[in-house]
Amino acid sequence: MTTLTDRFGRHFPYLRMSLTEACNYRCGYCLPDGYDGPSRGFLTRGEIGRLLRAFVALGMSKLRLTGGEPSLRRDLVDVIADAAALPGIRKIAMTTNGVVLARRVADWHAAGLTALNVSIDSLDAVRFAAVTGFDHHAQLLDGIEHSLGLGFASVKLNAVLLRGVNDDELDAWLEYVRPRALSVRYIELMRTGENADYFARHHLPASTIAAQLLSRGWSRTERAFDAGPAVEYAHPDYAGRIGLIAPYAPNFCAGCNRLRVTARGDLRLCLFGEFGVPLRDLLQSDDDGETLRARIAQQLGLKAAGHDLHRGNTGITPHLASVGG
Ligand code: 5AD
Ligand code: SF4
Repeated sequence: MTTLTDRFGRHFPYLRMSLTEACNYRCGYCLPDGYDGPSRGFLTRGEIGRLLRAFVALGMSKLRLTGGEPSLRRDLVDVIADAAALPGIRKIAMTTNGVVLARRVADWHAAGLTALNVSIDSLDAVRFAAVTGFDHHAQLLDGIEHSLGLGFASVKLNAVLLRGVNDDELDAWLEYVRPRALSVRYIELMRTGENADYFARHHLPASTIAAQLLSRGWSRTERAFDAGPAVEYAHPDYAGRIGLIAPYAPNFCAGCNRLRVTARGDLRLCLFGEFGVPLRDLLQSDDDGETLRARIAQQLGLKAAGHDLHRGNTGITPHLASVGG
C-alpha cells in the first residue's frame, strides 16, 4: 500500500474529518455570537463511509472526527462504528467540547473510538464560562474523569492560550496532571478571517509556556511518526504531560502530516489554504471510488509548503468551526 506523499516529501497518514459545522458553544475566538448557519446539508453517513474507504485505500491510518461539535450529530455512534470496521485505521480520535461527554463517552468508546481530545480552556469555572458562554465546567470535569476510566489509548485536553484570560494557569494544570495520565495541550491562538480583534487582544506565543516548563524542571519528549504538531513536555514526578502547539513557530508546517475534509465534503490541503476541492460529487456511488482516489492524490500535488499566516494571510478560513481545527 502506498501512502499519500506531496512534492515536499511529506506523508499524510492522518485525516481530519469534520462531521458538522454547527456548534452549541460561543468561544470568543471562534464563534463569539454562536453558530447561525444551516443545521443540515452535511455529509451523510453513507457519503462519509465512501470517503473513508478512499482514504484508507490511499494509506490513511489515523482518523480524527471534528466539527463544529461532532457530538451534535445524532448518528455519531454509527459513524464511529463504520470507521472502526474499516481495516487499516489504527486510531480513531475525536475532538469535542465535551458537552455530552459524561453521558455519551462510554458509547463512543464501545463503538470503536480510541482517542479523545476535549477542549477546556480554563480550570476555573468562571473563566470557562466567560470563554465558551456556558456554565458547564463541573460536568465537563466529571466527563473527563469518567473518560479516563474507559481505557482510551489517549485522552488529551486542549486549552487555547489566551493572554489576560488563562495565561496564569500553568501551575494549576501541573497539579491537575500530577496524578492523571493525560496530556494537556496549550494551543497558541491562531488568527482566522473573523477573529482579528480578539487575536490582537489575546494572542500570546506558546514559547512563554515553554520557558515556564523548563524552569520547573520539565523536559521535551520525542515525537511519534504520526503525531500532531504538539511538542510534549514530561517530568518524572508527574503522570501527565503538557504539550505546546505553536503554529507560528518556524518550521511548523514542515512536519505537516494531515489532510482535512469539511463537513460538506471539500478536501482542504491546509487549514489556512486558499481553496477547497469538492469531493462530494464522487461520494454518491460506490462506482466512483477509483476517480475519487485519483482526485485526492492529484490534489495533493498542489499542497503548498506552508501557510502564510506570518503575513496575516488567513486564507479562506472564517473560523475554525468551519474546518474543524
Ligand atoms: N486558535 C487556536 N485554537 C482554536 N480552536 C478553535 N479556534 C481556534 C483558534 N482560532 C481550538 C478549539 C479546540 C480545537 C479544535 O481548536 O478550542 O480545542
Ligand atoms: Fe465550538 Fe470549538 Fe468553536 Fe468553541 S472552538 S465555538 S467549542 S467549534
